[in-house]
Amino acid sequence: MTSKEIRTAFLDFFKSKSHHIVNSAPVVVKDDPTLMFTNAGMNQFKDLFLGEAAVTYPRIADTQRCLRVSGKHNDLEEVGIDTYHHTLFEMLGNWSFGDYFKKEAIAWAWELLTDVYQLDKDRLYVTIFEGDNNENLARDEEAYAFWKNHVAEDSILLGNKKDNFWEMGDTGPCGPCSEIHYDMRPDGERQLVKGQELVNMDHPQVIEIWNLVFMQFNRLKSGVLEPLPAKHVDTGMGFERLVRAIQGKTSNYDTDVFQPLISFIADRAGLKYGDNEKTDIAMRVLSDHIRAVSFAIADGQLPSNNKAGYVIRRILRRAVRYAYTFLDFKQPFFHELVPLLANQFKGVFDELFQQQDFVKKVILEEEVSFLRTLTTGIQRFENYVQQNQVIDGEFAFELFDTYGFPIDLTQLLAREKGLEVDMDGFQKALSRQRERSRAATAIDTGDWVVLNDDEEVEFVGYDTLTAQTTIVKYRKISAKGKDQHQLVLAVTPFYAEGGGQVGDSGVLISETGEKIMVTDTKKENGLIVHFVDRLPSSPDGVFTAQVDVRKRLDTESNHSATHLLHAALKQVLGEHVNQKGSLVSPDVLRFDISHFAKMTYDEIKAVEDIVNEKIRANIALKEERNVPFQQAIDSGVTALFGEKYGDHVRVITFDDSFSKELCGGTHVGATGQIGFFKIVAESAVAAGVRRIEAITGSKAAAVIREHFELFQNVKELLNSPKDFVSAVGKLIDENASLKKEIENHIKEKSLALKKGLEEKFETIDGVHFLATVVDLPHPDAVKTLAYALKGMMDNLFLVLGANIDGKPSLTVVVSEDLVKSKGLNAGTIVRDLAKDIQGGGGGQPFFATAGGKDVSGLEKAVGRARTFIE
Ligand code: ALA
Repeated sequence: MTSKEIRTAFLDFFKSKSHHIVNSAPVVVKDDPTLMFTNAGMNQFKDLFLGEAAVTYPRIADTQRCLRVSGKHNDLEEVGIDTYHHTLFEMLGNWSFGDYFKKEAIAWAWELLTDVYQLDKDRLYVTIFEGDNNENLARDEEAYAFWKNHVAEDSILLGNKKDNFWEMGDTGPCGPCSEIHYDMRPDGERQLVKGQELVNMDHPQVIEIWNLVFMQFNRLKSGVLEPLPAKHVDTGMGFERLVRAIQGKTSNYDTDVFQPLISFIADRAGLKYGDNEKTDIAMRVLSDHIRAVSFAIADGQLPSNNKAGYVIRRILRRAVRYAYTFLDFKQPFFHELVPLLANQFKGVFDELFQQQDFVKKVILEEEVSFLRTLTTGIQRFENYVQQNQVIDGEFAFELFDTYGFPIDLTQLLAREKGLEVDMDGFQKALSRQRERSRAATAIDTGDWVVLNDDEEVEFVGYDTLTAQTTIVKYRKISAKGKDQHQLVLAVTPFYAEGGGQVGDSGVLISETGEKIMVTDTKKENGLIVHFVDRLPSSPDGVFTAQVDVRKRLDTESNHSATHLLHAALKQVLGEHVNQKGSLVSPDVLRFDISHFAKMTYDEIKAVEDIVNEKIRANIALKEERNVPFQQAIDSGVTALFGEKYGDHVRVITFDDSFSKELCGGTHVGATGQIGFFKIVAESAVAAGVRRIEAITGSKAAAVIREHFELFQNVKELLNSPKDFVSAVGKLIDENASLKKEIENHIKEKSLALKKGLEEKFETIDGVHFLATVVDLPHPDAVKTLAYALKGMMDNLFLVLGANIDGKPSLTVVVSEDLVKSKGLNAGTIVRDLAKDIQGGGGGQPFFATAGGKDVSGLEKAVGRARTFIE
């Protein structure tokens, strides 16, 4: 079977067992503070496990793209070195939400593997949870009994909490699990060592292929395991490992999932895969990493300097680094893999195929800038090894952090020079950094205090801005040392931040009139969470929830304007324009798009004109809730990449032939409410991404008025000329020629003065001395004069005073030879003399100046100069 057939067979099999097939969620996670990237198929169903959302389909199956490169599940450093870990991998999964449990999950897994895929029964081993005393958990006898129906008893192995109790993260859904392992060793080896002994022993040929998790608990922050409202099944099969088992290969990279990429890389590098361990590793790294990087970008995560963006940047740099050092790619190459990958996933994950030009461009730009950094890093390394016997941990960390050198590579480079890396030091530096970033973002979240959990939570904010409600649960959080509280309401008119639109704020009023300010509203795994500064004195009462109306209406104007802008941009710039980010606040809207060039002024005008025309047309909002996803797509709506859409979606239309988007946000009743739209900035945010900032309604009117007034004021200053632009042009020209004239004039005056002053010098004890007040209008003129005199004679000590626009100034010059021979210092002298003009100053030993407040002290100061040589 080809990998495509294997994937399809999985989905077909579970379809035949009444499972509903869903799409993979994006790999970038948006509304779960505990997670950056999707790390398991079950992530998108977290709210179903926790009982926070209603179950529409009790049985689901899919293939989910996952990334295990950060947090609890992190395989990054293994990738490429071994043959069966990946950054991005597909997890085939089937789920039961309160429907079937262990019996069916086990029976179907066995049927699929042995009947459909025809894997050798003798080579399959399964594990079950042995129990854990500390957690007060018993051995999973049920799973054991069900497995016994299919597998010989000596192939059922016991596993501990680490291997057989699966947890999504530090908190969240979890439960005992049963893993299926496959032994791919040749018969001879199998006779010598039994497969049972190699299960979970990191043997590259005896590997886990499928994990069946029986979800029963929610791990709370306190560590307590709280039983879930219902029991569920969550399974995850490593697609690339399964393909390898079925195709009878000894490495995931030998399957048709990776071979096309590897052949391409080998070809372009002029090498053969399999010839040399070092270059093989590099090819594996590239063929793996391109998948993580491409899908992260397609799902909306651009490489950047912090958080998720930084993780992606590091993966990308790791790949470029391997390509550079081992495959001798000194020019950008990595991005060339994108089209190949996009074609491979066409029809599976179309997001990449549709955005391949954009993804390629982003990667290319990153490569170009990293190759520059890399050259510097390699120089740093070469210099370092010339002077040191050991690669210090701190230095290895600097290479890792600043120059993107993976530590295994630094070790290799070091070994080539016969040196060792101080790994302890490196690990210490690494953990210090992790601790720093953890502390910077640490949010301490307490466990929920539940008041009434039976309530179905309802959002009513599309239709009303006020509602009677009760508190379902609350908890305390502290972020950066500041305490806050979060509430979940049974009924809420508060819109939670999402789709770019900021969360509502407002107030909760108790029956006794107590007011609690809601400062923000956010979504967390589908739950609407309200942020408040303090808890009400009796949380179990009835409350009136009131949204801040002004803020909401202004935000709605900007949100609807964003839709009009999006449609107008596609008309003016082209269909390649995709939304890459959006912020809709009451004051401003910010919209990021994939587009490769700066927008011209004419394009900006054209976009503004279209949007304003649609505003004046006062198009009524058409809002359709609960439209089946496919029906919406067929009707031509704009769906966004990187968004997770359910089976039923909300469609927002302003004129069927103009703007139709999938959107959960709130909008104006008709476009006329937006009033007026104005783009105020257009800039670059990343390679291939432009940012447009715009304002609407009263904000736009205020800004236009401000600009108009400013213009009026300036015009009046110029006596309201008919042709304003040429009047200003004339003014500028005149000013320039006047300036020139003045400069000439000053120069002439300085020269004239110089002649007269030359004669006034006295010679005191071999020093040419002059101290006088000159009539010059500009500090530059005094300086010019001072230097001209200095250039004329040795042993010079000169003090010039000047009255510049009513302010006294002093300039002291001492020839370099005098600085040495007589210890005269212009800086010291000028500071002393400046006392007479109530001022201060300084400079260098041969030239210093001072300014002051009292012009009447100028003569006195100049008169005192003589004392310094006398
Ligand atoms: N959620 C389980 C895993 O990721 C299936 O292994």
